[in-house]
Amino acid sequence: MNSQLSITTIALLLLLLLLASNVTAQPGVFNIRKYGAPNGDITNYKFVCFSYSLVFLFVKALKSAWKDACASSSPSKVVVPSGWYKLQQIDLEGPCNAPIEVRVHGKILAPKNPYHLNGQDQWVRFQYINFFTLSGRGTFDGQGEMAWTQNDCGRNTNCNRHAMNFGFAFLNNSIIQDINSKDSKYFHANVFGCNNVTFRNFNINAPETSPNTDGIHIGRSTKVQIINSKIGTGDDCISLGDGSRQITIRNVTCGPGHGISVGSLGRYPNEEPVVDLTVKNCTLNNTDNGVRIKTWPGTSVVSIASHLHFEDIIMVNVTNPIIIDQEYCPWNQCSKKSPSQIKIRKVLFKNIRGTSATQEGVALVCSRGVPCEAIVLSDIDLSFNGSKAIAKCANVKPTIRRKAPICMVPHI
Ligand SMILES: *[C@@H]1O[C@H](CO)[C@@H](O)[C@H](O)[C@H]1NC(C)=O
Ligand SMILES: *[C@@H]1O[C@H](CO)[C@@H](O)[C@H](O)[C@H]1NC(C)=O
Ligand SMILES: *[C@@H]1O[C@H](CO)[C@@H](O)[C@H](O)[C@H]1NC(C)=O
Ligand SMILES: *[C@@H]1O[C@H](CO)[C@@H](O)[C@H](O)[C@H]1NC(C)=O
Ligand SMILES: *[C@@H]1O[C@H](CO)[C@@H](O)[C@H](O)[C@H]1NC(C)=O
Ligand SMILES: *[C@@H]1O[C@H](CO)[C@@H](O)[C@H](O)[C@H]1NC(C)=O
Ligand SMILES: *[C@@H]1O[C@H](CO)[C@@H](O)[C@H](O)[C@H]1NC(C)=O
Repeated sequence: MNSQLSITTIALLLLLLLLASNVTAQPGVFNIRKYGAPNGDITNYKFVCFSYSLVFLFVKALKSAWKDACASSSPSKVVVPSGWYKLQQIDLEGPCNAPIEVRVHGKILAPKNPYHLNGQDQWVRFQYINFFTLSGRGTFDGQGEMAWTQNDCGRNTNCNRHAMNFGFAFLNNSIIQDINSKDSKYFHANVFGCNNVTFRNFNINAPETSPNTDGIHIGRSTKVQIINSKIGTGDDCISLGDGSRQITIRNVTCGPGHGISVGSLGRYPNEEPVVDLTVKNCTLNNTDNGVRIKTWPGTSVVSIASHLHFEDIIMVNVTNPIIIDQEYCPWNQCSKKSPSQIKIRKVLFKNIRGTSATQEGVALVCSRGVPCEAIVLSDIDLSFNGSKAIAKCANVKPTIRRKAPICMVPHI
């Protein structure tokens, strides 16, 4: 063996040892590099054109690191160092033996082709975990552009639904913080069957024109908080499906997008009530809707939405700042002949100010079958093109407190 080569070899080995000792340092820390994840240096990727072997290497490393961390009897942390990684569909599941955190510093990319995710509803799924934390300022980039061009869900009810960036299902006592979700192929995050989950500084970004890229959809979950976050998408910023209870949305800025929505409700059988929502200290900037409650007519689904508080909200050029729409029927997918059977009661709109992009700043279109009850408008100050916005109401007699537009145009 040539001596120069052996010196190089020894130097390389030393370097590797050094790297290895670096990534094994802390107890309870499971660095994916130690599990054979490729170095997330973008220059590596340039030459191998995101080769599949690297993609699978990363999935494998992440799964193995998760398995060991989850089995640990003391709190553990799976670390994805900074760098770029390409990731296939993955499910990371509990139950785990102790609190577990996944800390992502890097940027993780989904395959561009929506059919390369094994037909799963969600790209990255965390489920059945107690005391889970996702953190680290990293970005999950769904690279949704190709999927968006193939989305016909607006016209076609049996459309192919592409994968969401995240599924958070059956999590208890968990925190998702400082993470960025970008350009999902469909909704960004679905929260289902969760109890006591906080999203903090969870920022979502997709273009205004991207279809169905809703920010966070919550369903059948209790005690979910979304705070201190920025969400800009092509669809709802946050939406609450049936069975959402004790939900808090605070200090969230939305826009572009379709605003904060309760619903749509009443489309599917066996829906559970939506109860106890607080939306406070939020800004909606250039969104289609501000705060909205939407339910479908023409179905026999009976349920309720109650104790909904919208308070201290700033609207910036919002098309429909305050809206209850019980005739929600996009693309004429329903019949308006029979009214919605969703009862809306105890709703407070308080201290909501700013600008409306239309004259009707407040639209309360309730069901003629089950009129809205106990709706309060208090301190509403919305202007349109320099003059006061007006309110349109149907099947509701809102209580007007302090400054608020009174219902002017009876709805026909
Ligand atoms: C979450 O809490 C529910 C209700 O207490 C419980 O049934 C479930 O097992 C918990 N899940 C985990 C993963 O701990
Ligand atoms: C909710 O979850 C957080 C985060 O794990 C935890 O600190 C807190 O104690 C939980 N709250 C309740 C009421 O269990
Ligand atoms: C509101 O959220 C932003 C991040 O979006 C944060 O910088 C700011 O400190 C938060 N404000 C409060 C009062 O928590
Ligand atoms: C939210 O709270 C912060 C700090 O209290 C305040 O500066 C900001 O103006 C509030 N935003 C809204 C929309 O009320
Ligand atoms: C609204 O968004 C625009 C950009 O779209 C930004 O320039 C402006 O500062 C935002 N306004 C508020 C009040 O957040
Ligand atoms: C206000 O919103 C309307 C309708 O979305 C839009 O056409 C207009 O450009 C917006 N104005 C500003 C100042 O952003
Ligand atoms: C806004 O107000 C100006 C001046 O009062 C008027 O010329 C203009 O047509 C109004 N624009 C709209 C969209 O109503």
